[in-house]
Amino acid sequence: MAASKPSRRKPFTFPAIIFLATLVTFNIQYLIQLHQEVQNAVNHRTTATSLNWFEFVARELGHEAINVALVNMDDETTLPHKIPTKGEIVKVDFDRVVEAVQWSHLYPEWIDETNAKCPNVPMPVFENYDQLDVVVARVPPDEFGLKDVFRLQVNLVVANLLVRCGRVQSGISRPIFAVFIGASGPMSEIFRCDDLVLHDADYWIHRPELTRIRQIVLMPVGSCQLNPPLPHIGKELGIERLKQPREAYATIVHSTETYVCGAIALARSIIKLNTTKDLILLADYHISPKSINGLQSAGWKIKQIKRIRNPHSKKKSYNEWNYSKLRLWQLTDYDKIIFIDSDFIVTKSLDNFFKYPGISARGNNQDRFNSGLMLLEPSMCTFRRLMEKRWVVRSYNGGDQGYLNEMFPWWHRLPNKINHLTYFDPNNGDEDREHVVESDVYAIHYLGWKPWWCYRDYDCNWDGPKNKKFASDSANNIWWDVYDKASDEMKENCFLTPEMYNRFWNNRKRAKEANLSDGHWRIKIRDPRLNNKL
Ligand SMILES: *[C@@H]1O[C@H](CO)[C@@H](O)[C@H](O)[C@H]1NC(C)=O
Ligand SMILES: *[C@@H]1O[C@H](CO)[C@@H](O)[C@H](O)[C@H]1NC(C)=O
Ligand SMILES: *[C@@H]1O[C@H](CO)[C@@H](O)[C@H](O)[C@H]1NC(C)=O
Repeated sequence: MAASKPSRRKPFTFPAIIFLATLVTFNIQYLIQLHQEVQNAVNHRTTATSLNWFEFVARELGHEAINVALVNMDDETTLPHKIPTKGEIVKVDFDRVVEAVQWSHLYPEWIDETNAKCPNVPMPVFENYDQLDVVVARVPPDEFGLKDVFRLQVNLVVANLLVRCGRVQSGISRPIFAVFIGASGPMSEIFRCDDLVLHDADYWIHRPELTRIRQIVLMPVGSCQLNPPLPHIGKELGIERLKQPREAYATIVHSTETYVCGAIALARSIIKLNTTKDLILLADYHISPKSINGLQSAGWKIKQIKRIRNPHSKKKSYNEWNYSKLRLWQLTDYDKIIFIDSDFIVTKSLDNFFKYPGISARGNNQDRFNSGLMLLEPSMCTFRRLMEKRWVVRSYNGGDQGYLNEMFPWWHRLPNKINHLTYFDPNNGDEDREHVVESDVYAIHYLGWKPWWCYRDYDCNWDGPKNKKFASDSANNIWWDVYDKASDEMKENCFLTPEMYNRFWNNRKRAKEANLSDGHWRIKIRDPRLNNKL
């Protein structure tokens, strides 16, 4: 630090000291008073609210003989004796999950899909509790972030009590309530904001839709295991599945038209599998009326959207508008959406996967899911939450996938073959012609250059040294077999743009000059699109 000149200021005079002392005393008094006021407010609020939740529930149920279960509430001095119920109050017993179980054990990057087992997260003996009207739980603070195993355990205990131990009355389905105490509220993946009926300070009263919670408690505690097989889920939820489900496939095209042709082929592939679901396509104003016509005749119902910017991304960056996917949560005409990126072909029906809860998807890296294909549950309040939080929560890669993983850390794992990536690890002996896609996959996700940016008989990923790991003649054929059956009106959206055309021929020339050993550059192209530039 630089030496400063000796101070020339005068020392404090006596009156100044008196003045300062008064100021300090006054301030201390003021602070004490303020503290008391705050304290009173807090006490008042807490007592008022703890009565309020009871009053609220009693009013909803129409009586005061309410059976209450307490979860994670050891400090009996505060709550139980203040609950003026004429029913019973029970404390729910369960062993706290051992500390050795970390979030990364519940969300491993890779699992053996046929054999993996999740760590034990203890639950209460549910037979010990029944005829419950309300479950009151203290939620651990989120000081350890959203990926806290104990917080998850408490939420799962509540969810299970609600569906297994609710009061039964012959023939009548009665409401059952959950009250969460704690600043952060319950986990939104389990207890949706839609079911929040009253929120006051640290108190959150939910009236959960039990059909949803029932699906959720059938899921493993994390993505450490695949979702249980569909027949099992179907049996557990059998009766409820009889009503006409509000379910749809959805995709999105925005900002450029380069994915329009992909979306057309995607629709054709889903329809060919005789789906009973609606097909919804979100499009922004960049998609021309001609493209919209092609997409409609392919089978999509179009919803016009305004695209959504990632506030943290650079202007004009490739993923600046990727948050447009958040609009999927606005599709509240449906309970569930299977979202599929436009660079997919579905090869086996996915209709049965709608039985799972959201978010279900395949794993990506670390503890994350891949947002290229995901089952989600639209909800207006969730949409609003996603819109608000995007200003403060950052995505690890700037894309929607990173953001959604921050917002939905508790997701459910689908088999990898539901979103089979055309990726052939160069270090894994997958060289050259062995790039074959297995026949039992559900859907193929075309990475790298898209088939419609290349030719019928030519996957142009072969020609780019960086893209060769995405090249696959078998995957390419599957895509074009779908395209072949499209109408001319649809196919008109599948011509190469001048940029695509130039890239193709430049790369092919380079591949020839380099004498690439896979020899694809020798193929004579017969695709009629060769002469149909845009
Ligand atoms: C779809 O339905 C048609 C007509 O009923 C049938 O011929 C075809 O085999 C079905 N396809 C699939 C994949 O089930
Ligand atoms: C963002 O969207 C673009 C175009 O739709 C896509 O190519 C890209 O992979 C997306 N990026 C991320 C990180 O999701
Ligand atoms: C190109 O590679 C093949 C082997 O893959 C070789 O027989 C041929 O001589 C090479 N041609 C040139 C011009 O290097």
